[in-house]
Amino acid sequence: MKKLDNFIEKEVARIRERVGSDRVLLALSGGVDSSVCAALISKAVPNQLTCVFVDHGFMRKNEGDEIEKFFSKRKLQLIRVNAQDRFLGRLKGITDPEQKRKIIGKEFIRVFEEEAAKLGNIPVLAQGTIYPDIAESGGEAGATIKSHHNVGGLPKKLAFSQLLEPLCSLYKDEVRVIGQKLGLPKALVERQPFPGPGLAVRVIGELTKEKLEILRQADAVVREEIGKLKERPNQYFAILTNTLSTGIKEKTRAYNPVIAVRAVITSDFMTCEYAALPHKVLAKISARITGEVAGVSRVVYDITKKPPATVEWE
Ligand code: XMP
Repeated sequence: MKKLDNFIEKEVARIRERVGSDRVLLALSGGVDSSVCAALISKAVPNQLTCVFVDHGFMRKNEGDEIEKFFSKRKLQLIRVNAQDRFLGRLKGITDPEQKRKIIGKEFIRVFEEEAAKLGNIPVLAQGTIYPDIAESGGEAGATIKSHHNVGGLPKKLAFSQLLEPLCSLYKDEVRVIGQKLGLPKALVERQPFPGPGLAVRVIGELTKEKLEILRQADAVVREEIGKLKERPNQYFAILTNTLSTGIKEKTRAYNPVIAVRAVITSDFMTCEYAALPHKVLAKISARITGEVAGVSRVVYDITKKPPATVEWE
Protein backbone atom coordinates (compact mmCIF):
# COMPACT_ATOMS: atom_id res chain seq x y z
CA MET A 1 0.00 0.00 0.00
CA LYS A 2 1.68 3.14 -1.28
CA LYS A 3 0.04 5.38 1.31
CA LEU A 4 1.83 3.40 4.00
CA ASP A 5 5.36 3.74 2.57
CA ASN A 6 7.34 5.82 5.08
CA PHE A 7 4.18 6.29 7.20
CA ILE A 8 6.04 5.37 10.38
CA GLU A 9 9.06 7.62 9.69
CA LYS A 10 6.81 10.53 8.73
CA GLU A 11 4.52 10.14 11.74
CA VAL A 12 7.40 9.70 14.18
CA ALA A 13 8.87 12.99 12.93
CA ARG A 14 5.47 14.69 13.08
CA ILE A 15 4.78 13.46 16.61
CA ARG A 16 8.21 14.68 17.80
CA GLU A 17 7.59 18.06 16.22
CA ARG A 18 4.06 18.43 17.67
CA VAL A 19 4.85 17.14 21.13
CA GLY A 20 8.27 18.68 21.71
CA SER A 21 9.29 17.96 25.28
CA ASP A 22 5.69 17.64 26.55
CA ARG A 23 4.37 14.49 28.19
CA VAL A 24 1.67 12.43 26.47
CA LEU A 25 -1.18 10.44 28.01
CA LEU A 26 -2.47 7.70 25.72
CA ALA A 27 -5.96 6.26 26.07
CA LEU A 28 -5.17 2.55 25.75
CA SER A 29 -8.00 0.07 25.31
CA GLY A 30 -5.87 -2.94 24.42
CA GLY A 31 -7.41 -3.05 20.93
CA VAL A 32 -5.47 -2.90 17.66
CA ASP A 33 -5.79 0.85 17.09
CA SER A 34 -4.70 2.12 20.49
CA SER A 35 -1.98 -0.54 20.76
CA VAL A 36 -0.49 0.46 17.40
CA CYS A 37 -0.78 4.07 18.50
CA ALA A 38 1.12 3.24 21.71
CA ALA A 39 3.90 1.56 19.74
CA LEU A 40 4.16 4.49 17.33
CA ILE A 41 4.24 7.18 20.01
CA SER A 42 6.67 5.23 22.14
CA LYS A 43 8.96 5.00 19.09
CA ALA A 44 8.77 8.79 18.73
CA VAL A 45 8.93 9.97 22.35
CA PRO A 46 9.54 6.87 24.52
CA ASN A 47 10.18 8.58 27.82
CA GLN A 48 7.31 11.02 27.57
CA LEU A 49 4.48 8.50 27.18
CA THR A 50 2.10 7.19 29.86
CA CYS A 51 -0.65 4.77 28.82
CA VAL A 52 -3.89 4.70 30.78
CA PHE A 53 -6.20 1.72 30.48
CA VAL A 54 -9.65 2.41 31.90
CA ASP A 55 -11.58 -0.70 32.82
CA HIS A 56 -15.12 0.58 32.45
CA GLY A 57 -16.67 -2.77 33.34
CA PHE A 58 -17.80 -3.43 29.77
CA MET A 59 -14.88 -5.64 28.79
CA ARG A 60 -15.26 -9.23 27.66
CA LYS A 61 -14.59 -12.23 29.92
CA ASN A 62 -11.14 -11.92 31.61
CA GLU A 63 -10.16 -9.16 29.17
CA GLY A 64 -9.18 -6.44 31.67
CA ASP A 65 -6.66 -8.71 33.39
CA GLU A 66 -5.31 -10.01 30.07
CA ILE A 67 -4.70 -6.49 28.79
CA GLU A 68 -2.96 -5.44 31.99
CA LYS A 69 -0.76 -8.55 31.91
CA PHE A 70 0.18 -8.13 28.24
CA PHE A 71 1.14 -4.46 28.44
CA SER A 72 2.86 -4.72 31.81
CA LYS A 73 5.40 -7.02 30.15
CA ARG A 74 6.28 -4.42 27.53
CA LYS A 75 8.42 -1.37 28.07
CA LEU A 76 5.47 0.95 28.52
CA GLN A 77 4.37 2.90 31.51
CA LEU A 78 0.84 1.60 32.11
CA ILE A 79 -1.79 2.64 34.61
CA ARG A 80 -5.01 0.64 35.00
CA VAL A 81 -8.00 2.49 36.38
CA ASN A 82 -10.86 0.37 37.69
CA ALA A 83 -13.96 2.46 37.10
CA GLN A 84 -16.66 -0.18 36.73
CA ASP A 85 -19.16 1.24 39.23
CA ARG A 86 -18.59 4.79 38.09
CA PHE A 87 -19.50 4.01 34.46
CA LEU A 88 -22.47 1.82 35.33
CA GLY A 89 -23.75 4.54 37.65
CA ARG A 90 -23.58 7.18 34.90
CA LEU A 91 -25.49 4.92 32.52
CA LYS A 92 -28.30 4.06 34.90
CA GLY A 93 -31.64 4.39 33.12
CA ILE A 94 -30.04 5.19 29.73
CA THR A 95 -31.43 3.22 26.81
CA ASP A 96 -30.50 5.32 23.77
CA PRO A 97 -27.31 4.09 22.06
CA GLU A 98 -26.11 7.54 21.02
CA GLN A 99 -26.54 8.79 24.57
CA LYS A 100 -24.67 5.74 25.88
CA ARG A 101 -21.73 6.43 23.58
CA LYS A 102 -21.63 10.11 24.48
CA ILE A 103 -21.78 9.45 28.23
CA ILE A 104 -19.04 6.83 27.94
CA GLY A 105 -16.87 9.11 25.75
CA LYS A 106 -17.22 11.97 28.22
CA GLU A 107 -16.58 9.78 31.25
CA PHE A 108 -13.47 8.31 29.62
CA ILE A 109 -12.09 11.81 29.14
CA ARG A 110 -12.89 12.81 32.72
CA VAL A 111 -10.96 9.77 33.98
CA PHE A 112 -8.01 10.61 31.70
CA GLU A 113 -8.06 14.22 32.92
CA GLU A 114 -8.04 13.07 36.54
CA GLU A 115 -5.14 10.71 35.88
CA ALA A 116 -3.22 13.45 34.03
CA ALA A 117 -3.75 15.81 36.98
CA LYS A 118 -2.47 13.15 39.41
CA LEU A 119 0.64 12.64 37.29
CA GLY A 120 1.49 16.32 37.06
CA ASN A 121 1.46 18.31 33.87
CA ILE A 122 0.40 16.21 30.84
CA PRO A 123 -0.94 18.51 28.13
CA VAL A 124 -1.29 15.98 25.31
CA LEU A 125 -4.03 13.36 25.04
CA ALA A 126 -3.38 10.66 22.43
CA GLN A 127 -6.06 8.38 21.01
CA GLY A 128 -6.02 5.55 18.47
CA THR A 129 -8.79 7.15 16.41
CA ILE A 130 -8.95 5.82 12.83
CA TYR A 131 -10.63 7.25 9.74
CA PRO A 132 -13.92 5.29 9.93
CA ASP A 133 -14.48 6.52 13.53
CA ILE A 134 -14.45 10.08 12.19
CA ALA A 135 -16.45 9.34 9.05
CA GLU A 136 -19.20 7.46 10.93
CA SER A 137 -19.38 10.08 13.67
CA GLY A 138 -20.43 12.63 11.06
CA GLY A 139 -16.97 14.13 10.51
CA GLU A 140 -16.15 15.90 7.26
CA ALA A 141 -19.81 16.90 6.85
CA GLY A 142 -21.03 13.31 6.56
CA ALA A 143 -24.16 11.98 8.26
CA THR A 144 -23.78 10.66 11.79
CA ILE A 145 -24.16 6.88 11.69
CA LYS A 146 -22.97 6.43 15.25
CA SER A 147 -20.95 8.71 17.46
CA HIS A 148 -17.82 6.70 18.10
CA HIS A 149 -16.98 7.35 21.75
CA ASN A 150 -13.59 8.80 20.88
CA VAL A 151 -14.92 11.30 18.30
CA GLY A 152 -18.63 12.21 18.58
CA GLY A 153 -18.45 11.28 22.28
CA LEU A 154 -15.64 13.72 23.10
CA PRO A 155 -16.77 16.57 25.35
CA LYS A 156 -16.36 20.08 23.89
CA LYS A 157 -14.09 21.28 26.71
CA LEU A 158 -10.97 19.25 27.43
CA ALA A 159 -8.38 19.82 30.13
CA PHE A 160 -5.74 18.74 27.58
CA SER A 161 -4.36 21.40 25.26
CA GLN A 162 -3.53 18.98 22.42
CA LEU A 163 -5.22 15.94 20.91
CA LEU A 164 -2.84 13.61 19.12
CA GLU A 165 -4.38 11.06 16.74
CA PRO A 166 -1.62 9.78 14.46
CA LEU A 167 -3.74 7.02 12.86
CA CYS A 168 -6.69 9.21 11.94
CA SER A 169 -6.15 8.93 8.18
CA LEU A 170 -6.00 5.12 8.18
CA TYR A 171 -8.49 2.30 7.77
CA LYS A 172 -8.38 -0.75 10.02
CA ASP A 173 -6.50 -2.96 7.54
CA GLU A 174 -3.87 -0.24 7.13
CA VAL A 175 -3.47 0.07 10.90
CA ARG A 176 -2.76 -3.67 11.01
CA VAL A 177 -0.01 -3.27 8.39
CA ILE A 178 1.57 -0.49 10.47
CA GLY A 179 1.30 -2.68 13.58
CA GLN A 180 3.17 -5.47 11.79
CA LYS A 181 5.83 -3.05 10.60
CA LEU A 182 6.27 -1.86 14.19
CA GLY A 183 6.88 -5.47 15.24
CA LEU A 184 3.77 -5.99 17.36
CA PRO A 185 2.85 -9.66 17.95
CA LYS A 186 0.59 -11.27 15.33
CA ALA A 187 -2.06 -12.17 17.91
CA LEU A 188 -2.42 -8.50 18.80
CA VAL A 189 -2.29 -7.09 15.26
CA GLU A 190 -4.88 -9.59 14.08
CA ARG A 191 -7.24 -9.08 17.02
CA GLN A 192 -10.80 -8.51 15.97
CA PRO A 193 -11.99 -5.00 16.70
CA PHE A 194 -13.84 -4.32 19.92
CA PRO A 195 -15.70 -1.03 20.29
CA GLY A 196 -14.46 1.42 22.92
CA PRO A 197 -17.82 1.38 24.74
CA GLY A 198 -17.50 -2.41 24.77
CA LEU A 199 -20.37 -4.58 25.89
CA ALA A 200 -22.32 -1.43 26.80
CA VAL A 201 -23.40 -1.20 23.15
CA ARG A 202 -24.04 -4.93 22.92
CA VAL A 203 -26.58 -5.02 25.74
CA ILE A 204 -29.54 -3.47 23.98
CA GLY A 205 -31.35 -0.98 26.19
CA GLU A 206 -30.60 -0.31 29.84
CA LEU A 207 -27.48 -1.84 31.35
CA THR A 208 -27.31 -3.85 34.54
CA LYS A 209 -24.52 -5.95 36.06
CA GLU A 210 -26.69 -9.06 35.60
CA LYS A 211 -27.31 -8.42 31.88
CA LEU A 212 -23.60 -7.75 31.34
CA GLU A 213 -22.73 -11.05 32.99
CA ILE A 214 -25.18 -12.99 30.80
CA LEU A 215 -23.70 -11.38 27.69
CA ARG A 216 -20.13 -11.99 28.86
CA GLN A 217 -20.81 -15.70 29.22
CA ALA A 218 -22.65 -16.02 25.91
CA ASP A 219 -19.97 -14.02 24.10
CA ALA A 220 -17.22 -16.25 25.52
CA VAL A 221 -19.00 -19.26 23.97
CA VAL A 222 -19.30 -17.54 20.58
CA ARG A 223 -15.63 -16.56 20.57
CA GLU A 224 -14.50 -19.98 21.71
CA GLU A 225 -16.51 -21.92 19.10
CA ILE A 226 -15.81 -19.63 16.14
CA GLY A 227 -12.21 -19.30 17.31
CA LYS A 228 -11.74 -23.03 16.62
CA LEU A 229 -12.36 -22.55 12.89
CA LYS A 230 -9.41 -22.47 10.50
CA GLU A 231 -10.92 -19.60 8.53
CA ARG A 232 -12.44 -17.16 10.93
CA PRO A 233 -14.70 -14.18 10.20
CA ASN A 234 -13.13 -10.75 10.83
CA GLN A 235 -15.38 -9.97 13.78
CA TYR A 236 -17.72 -12.20 15.79
CA PHE A 237 -19.58 -11.68 19.02
CA ALA A 238 -22.86 -11.99 20.92
CA ILE A 239 -25.51 -9.38 21.59
CA LEU A 240 -28.03 -9.41 24.44
CA THR A 241 -31.21 -8.19 22.79
CA ASN A 242 -34.06 -6.54 24.67
CA THR A 243 -36.59 -8.97 23.22
CA LEU A 244 -37.99 -11.54 25.60
CA SER A 245 -39.16 -14.85 24.23
CA THR A 246 -40.92 -17.90 25.59
CA GLY A 247 -38.97 -21.09 26.11
CA ILE A 248 -38.95 -24.28 28.15
CA LYS A 249 -36.27 -24.81 30.75
CA GLU A 250 -36.35 -27.77 33.11
CA LYS A 251 -39.91 -28.57 31.98
CA THR A 252 -41.22 -25.16 33.03
CA ARG A 253 -42.02 -22.05 31.06
CA ALA A 254 -39.19 -19.59 30.70
CA TYR A 255 -39.49 -16.00 29.46
CA ASN A 256 -35.97 -14.84 28.78
CA PRO A 257 -33.97 -12.41 26.64
CA VAL A 258 -32.88 -13.53 23.17
CA ILE A 259 -29.16 -13.71 22.42
CA ALA A 260 -28.12 -12.76 18.89
CA VAL A 261 -24.89 -13.88 17.26
CA ARG A 262 -23.12 -11.66 14.71
CA ALA A 263 -20.14 -12.68 12.56
CA VAL A 264 -18.92 -10.59 9.62
CA ILE A 265 -16.46 -10.79 6.76
CA THR A 266 -14.79 -7.52 5.79
CA SER A 267 -11.45 -5.81 5.41
CA ASP A 268 -12.27 -2.21 6.28
CA PHE A 269 -15.47 -2.58 8.36
CA MET A 270 -17.13 0.14 6.26
CA THR A 271 -19.03 -2.58 4.38
CA CYS A 272 -19.43 -6.21 5.46
CA GLU A 273 -20.93 -9.53 4.45
CA TYR A 274 -22.40 -11.75 7.13
CA ALA A 275 -20.30 -14.87 7.58
CA ALA A 276 -21.85 -18.05 6.17
CA LEU A 277 -20.91 -20.10 9.24
CA PRO A 278 -21.37 -23.87 9.01
CA HIS A 279 -24.72 -24.95 10.51
CA LYS A 280 -22.86 -27.36 12.77
CA VAL A 281 -21.03 -24.45 14.37
CA LEU A 282 -24.20 -22.42 14.78
CA ALA A 283 -25.99 -25.40 16.34
CA LYS A 284 -23.14 -25.94 18.80
CA ILE A 285 -23.12 -22.27 19.78
CA SER A 286 -26.86 -22.32 20.33
CA ALA A 287 -26.79 -25.57 22.34
CA ARG A 288 -23.94 -24.35 24.51
CA ILE A 289 -25.40 -20.93 25.22
CA THR A 290 -28.86 -22.23 26.10
CA GLY A 291 -27.29 -25.06 28.13
CA GLU A 292 -24.58 -23.10 29.94
CA VAL A 293 -25.93 -19.59 30.38
CA ALA A 294 -28.73 -19.30 32.90
CA GLY A 295 -31.46 -16.96 31.73
CA VAL A 296 -31.15 -17.64 27.99
CA SER A 297 -33.49 -19.96 26.09
CA ARG A 298 -33.25 -18.67 22.51
CA VAL A 299 -30.35 -17.82 20.18
CA VAL A 300 -30.65 -16.24 16.72
CA TYR A 301 -28.08 -15.58 13.98
CA ASP A 302 -27.88 -12.18 12.26
CA ILE A 303 -27.79 -12.61 8.46
CA THR A 304 -27.61 -8.94 7.46
CA LYS A 305 -24.94 -7.20 5.39
CA LYS A 306 -23.52 -3.74 6.13
CA PRO A 307 -25.13 -1.68 4.70
CA PRO A 308 -28.01 -1.64 5.44
CA ALA A 309 -27.19 -2.91 8.95
CA THR A 310 -24.15 -1.73 10.90
CA VAL A 311 -21.85 -4.29 12.49
CA GLU A 312 -22.86 -3.45 16.05
CA TRP A 313 -26.54 -3.54 16.87
CA GLU A 314 -26.45 -0.21 18.68
P1 XMP B 1 -20.40 -0.32 12.91
O1 XMP B 1 -21.29 -0.84 13.99
O2 XMP B 1 -20.32 1.18 12.89
O3 XMP B 1 -18.96 -0.81 13.30
O4 XMP B 1 -20.69 -0.89 11.56
C1 XMP B 1 -17.83 -0.71 12.49
C2 XMP B 1 -16.65 -1.11 13.35
O5 XMP B 1 -16.46 -0.14 14.38
C3 XMP B 1 -16.61 -0.72 15.66
N1 XMP B 1 -17.36 0.25 16.48
C4 XMP B 1 -16.81 1.08 17.37
N2 XMP B 1 -15.53 1.24 17.75
N3 XMP B 1 -16.20 2.93 19.28
C5 XMP B 1 -15.25 2.17 18.72
O6 XMP B 1 -14.08 2.32 19.10
C6 XMP B 1 -17.53 2.83 18.95
O7 XMP B 1 -18.37 3.53 19.48
C7 XMP B 1 -17.83 1.85 17.94
N4 XMP B 1 -18.98 1.48 17.35
C8 XMP B 1 -18.66 0.51 16.44
C9 XMP B 1 -17.37 -2.01 15.45
O8 XMP B 1 -17.10 -2.98 16.46
C10 XMP B 1 -16.88 -2.43 14.07
O9 XMP B 1 -15.65 -3.11 14.14
